[in-house]
Amino acid sequence: MLNPYDFNSVVVLTGAGISAESGLKTFRDSGGLWEGHSIEEVATPNAFNRNPDLVHTFYNLRRKQLLDEAAPNTAHMALADFEKNFEGNFTLITQNVDNLHEQAGSQNIFHMHGELLKARCLECRQSIDWDQKLETSTVSPCCNIKGSLRPDIVWFGEIPMHMKQIEQILEQCDLFVSIGTSGQVYPAAGFMQMASFAGAKTVELNLEACGRYSRFDHAIYGPATKIVRQFFDPASEEKVNQQ
Ligand code: APR
Repeated sequence: MLNPYDFNSVVVLTGAGISAESGLKTFRDSGGLWEGHSIEEVATPNAFNRNPDLVHTFYNLRRKQLLDEAAPNTAHMALADFEKNFEGNFTLITQNVDNLHEQAGSQNIFHMHGELLKARCLECRQSIDWDQKLETSTVSPCCNIKGSLRPDIVWFGEIPMHMKQIEQILEQCDLFVSIGTSGQVYPAAGFMQMASFAGAKTVELNLEACGRYSRFDHAIYGPATKIVRQFFDPASEEKVNQQ
């Protein structure tokens, strides 16, 4: 297996699977329903126009669950530790809207699908920190307008954030590691190929292979809490094996 410390520029892409063992449900493992709702009901601009109360309630619950119940697990910690110890360039791109990577100590991170703990003003487009309930009656602190705040989440049909920077970083990386994502949602699903075209080695760390054939150069399958540290802290694995 590859040693990530042997590379110069490491890019990690994470998805819902890395937070699953922190108690946050993945999307596609629960029968296509996300906490009982379809994408069309809660995660599109149309859904918000049609029924903003339902969309707010859905994200209020997600936000409260994150704040009250979830904590980073050893996979989040292993990535933060690697970033601290690694002397090359390290970038973490996450599709997750939770803040468990930040809580674990990760620094150089792009939330391409937005963040649960932020709200966006539809009037001035400003993104602001938000850890409370959002309601249609909420008045925006920036513009003082009732109902102008929405969750700062990239919904289906919207363009993911930070794409220019992400593409540049992928073009320069020499190791790309995908963790806990089913690889079904573009553009993130295309990052492995972009990195591979740029000459990077590609690694999949996931509970199981996505699709019949893995197109990654290497793969480790198992729960993130086990395999992420195994890959990113090879020395600790050796110690365990020697005991
Ligand atoms: N350890 C590692 N991988 C896991 C674990 C675990 N404990 N539990 C589940 N997985 C894997 C699943 O096997 C699956 O391949 O995590 C993946 C989760 O896939 P999805 O639910 O499709 O989540 P993700 O890929 O992040 O979805 C992408 O789609 O729902 C939208 O915008 C949302 O950002 C999300 C995007």
